[in-house]
Amino acid sequence: MKIDILTLFPEMFTSPFNASIIKRAMDENIVEISTLDFRQYGIGKHKIVDDTPYGGGAGMLLKPEPIFEAMDEINAADPTAEKRIILMDPAGKPFNHELAEDFSKSDHLVFICGHYEGYDERIRTLVTDEVSLGDYVLTGGELAAMVMIDATVRLLPGVLGNVDSAKEDSHASGLLEYPHYTRPAMYRGMEVPEVLRNGNHQLIEKWRHQESLKRTYDRRKDMLKNYPLTEEDKQFIQQLINPIQK
Ligand code: ADE
Repeated sequence: MKIDILTLFPEMFTSPFNASIIKRAMDENIVEISTLDFRQYGIGKHKIVDDTPYGGGAGMLLKPEPIFEAMDEINAADPTAEKRIILMDPAGKPFNHELAEDFSKSDHLVFICGHYEGYDERIRTLVTDEVSLGDYVLTGGELAAMVMIDATVRLLPGVLGNVDSAKEDSHASGLLEYPHYTRPAMYRGMEVPEVLRNGNHQLIEKWRHQESLKRTYDRRKDMLKNYPLTEEDKQFIQQLINPIQK
């Protein structure tokens, strides 16, 4: 996968992508990540990239020319690939696991990061997706792009050591992940559940599924609306709601 990031602050990406799993994925050529500082396409001697809004109002807007010219450069280098062009925008659709999976299927992603200001509306004609990291405003799109790239790259084949480890993630199954334990079996009075230590895999699977249901019910009831609950699941949840009823 190729990832290009249009940003005025390429140095922000150095450290996060130079460690751990993303670095390994880059070293193994599973992903190639490049930044493009679109200030080089800024206007005039001062390389201006923003301007005041027509019609008045507070704040500055990113001008169209630097972003369009940066996109021309990216398209010229890779004219045939179908690209996902992703605009970082707090007013975009919220990023989630499903979108990360969708992005991970593309051969070429381009992230456009604004900073401080909004976008000239014409920039939106270049993009396939307008995406927000969450319902808050960051100082720029860079941190949002880093998070989205991290969540996407870890889903690429060969990036995680254990092929199963992404499948059981919280959110991948539609439920939050069940609790995990490792040795010792007893620590400061806290004991690892007996069922996990008795080696009965059927019982372990059932316990894990029910703990996932319980955790999702406690923390994220909204997720259960989209999850295909079996009759047994529904009975289990009913018991959580009303433990006295049998
Ligand atoms: N830029 C500023 N805030 C943002 C957010 N929440 N998501 C994506 N890009 C942003």
